[in-house]
Amino acid sequence: EPYTRPGAKKGQINPAIKKDVDKVVDVQSIEDIGSQAAYCRCWRSKKFPYCDGAHGAHNKETGDNVGPLVINKK
Ligand code: FES
Repeated sequence: EPYTRPGAKKGQINPAIKKDVDKVVDVQSIEDIGSQAAYCRCWRSKKFPYCDGAHGAHNKETGDNVGPLVINKK
């Protein structure tokens, strides 16, 4: 059972990441991105905000179809 903030309602997309803050915001400079970066959109990554492949298990368990945002530097 994922941790839920006190007073939270059902239907949350984020099961566990930084639940002690009001809003999870990640800021990254374009200059700090290497040739490619993959950002998690399933909220299950242990390397959040980066994708670690956890979306695969989530999709398998739930029938969902989520995947990362991939940024490529040309
Ligand atoms: Fe979340 Fe890949 S782990 S999108």
